[in-house]
Amino acid sequence: MIDLKKCTVYQIYPKSFCDSNGDGIGDIRGIIGKLDYIQSLGADYIWCTPFFTSPLRDNGYDVEDYRNINPVFGTMEDVEALIAGAEERGMGLMLDMVFNHTSTRHEWFKRALAGEQKYMDYYIFRDGGPDKPPTNWQSKFGGPAWEYVPSLQKWYLHLFDVTQADLNWNNPEVRQELKNIVLFWKSKGVKGFRFDVVNLISKPDVFEDDNIGDGKRFYSDGPRVHEFLKELVADTGIEDMITVGEMSSTSLANCLKYSNPKEKELSMCFNFHHLKVDYKDGNKWELMKPDYRRLRDLFAVWQTEMERKNGWMAVFWCNHDQPRIVSRFGDDKKYWKESAKMLATFIHLLRGTPYIYQGEELGMTNAGYSSIDEYRDVESINYYHILLKKGKTRERALEILRQRSRDNGRSPMQWNSGRYGGFSVTEPWIGLPDNYKWINVAAEDRDEDSILNYYRALVELRKQHKIIQEGRIEFLLLKPEEIFAYKRVLYGQELLVLNNFSGKNVPLCKPIPYSEHSCLISNYNQAENNQGRAIKSLRPYESIAFYGKY
Ligand code: NOJ
Repeated sequence: MIDLKKCTVYQIYPKSFCDSNGDGIGDIRGIIGKLDYIQSLGADYIWCTPFFTSPLRDNGYDVEDYRNINPVFGTMEDVEALIAGAEERGMGLMLDMVFNHTSTRHEWFKRALAGEQKYMDYYIFRDGGPDKPPTNWQSKFGGPAWEYVPSLQKWYLHLFDVTQADLNWNNPEVRQELKNIVLFWKSKGVKGFRFDVVNLISKPDVFEDDNIGDGKRFYSDGPRVHEFLKELVADTGIEDMITVGEMSSTSLANCLKYSNPKEKELSMCFNFHHLKVDYKDGNKWELMKPDYRRLRDLFAVWQTEMERKNGWMAVFWCNHDQPRIVSRFGDDKKYWKESAKMLATFIHLLRGTPYIYQGEELGMTNAGYSSIDEYRDVESINYYHILLKKGKTRERALEILRQRSRDNGRSPMQWNSGRYGGFSVTEPWIGLPDNYKWINVAAEDRDEDSILNYYRALVELRKQHKIIQEGRIEFLLLKPEEIFAYKRVLYGQELLVLNNFSGKNVPLCKPIPYSEHSCLISNYNQAENNQGRAIKSLRPYESIAFYGKY
């Protein structure tokens, strides 16, 4: 059984990682060409977002055929070579299983639309006249969550885009189909799975209007979700593999259950509460400065409760659905390097399995698109129009997208300072910011003090130190609230991690003695610290980790 506590996962968004055939779109051969680079980070697993056959309306999260590869990304032989190439380098490939919904171009849905009862039962169809959807639920990409099919005189449920129809997990035949897909990929040598929005798979028995929300309270962590997961895991024999469930608007109690080894569901949960602290009244499309107190409290509660009740978390800042963290909770200008390193330190020394999203290790920033024509993401484009309809000016709507769009995290990987950042020889499918000229792999690889080399050091520290893998965690809720401090403790050893989440010098409410500790890692040169034998304040975005025995 693998020891997940030692591991770090590297996430790849294939469309934006590396283009090997010059069509402006990243592909699997491109990933293969960069395996040495990924290995140089110390990554143990590579999670690739979906590259299966798909109309790419939601960039692969709309799967048309789970057993075939989208020709835009390559072939089955390419995927087999990727699995083998990763394995040769001591890494495992994790595939992204999108099992809450399929594309409406999937064979099953086409047959459902043709009126075949067997396949209609694969999805969630409800009767109703054309003017009255079964419930008032909203799709997560904006607009109603139901679509009317005149030929059937029925509505189907789509919690995401209209081309992503929700599967009916209550139907045992559907569950069997999905298990077969897992078995298919397992037999190819895949080493783990990420399950997309897996806490949404169990819908309620009765569909009712939500008069206080968008419907999510009825289907998130739904009535049979734990039963379905246990069955999927047991029947496919994946309990000893790395499995991570993406959890949408979940609860701590449910995550404890999803990830407690005794439950035999998943090895860890990936949730987003900490990435909503800058949503005004919980609304992603209303800007607000991050609420750092809330951020710190959320980490403190989730980390300590997960430890107390034996759950396990993915710990991360970035993925393909999130803006870049250095532009969000850091400072992508004056303190770009310091803040990117501080944010990394905070995550990588926590209890959990750290995930690095491509380009995060370079300190890649938000893309800075200034016109709606530069966006490609279905959610961003839908919301742009919704914002205009709600009365926002064009400038304001674009400012919101500039901070919130998922495309911020989807700009091409910055490999070098050459044209298109070395991502492709031709114009990429989506633009990249000018800063690729200095924020890129080639430049950071040769700079000892780079963000890239700092990430490498953090990944290595986890491998070396049991205290990072297994230590108990204790948050020190110091004043002021921009100081995020925690201790890891293991058999007479202690690791103290201090982080300043602000661009100011911040005095600590009480000096922290450190003479008996040694500095494990810091984003500032500690030799320059002339404050004697105690830390009395932290410099802008300063981060220090001290390790010692007591
Ligand atoms: C979560 C994925 O991360 C996101 O990119 C996708 O749009 C939705 N699930 C729907 O599959």
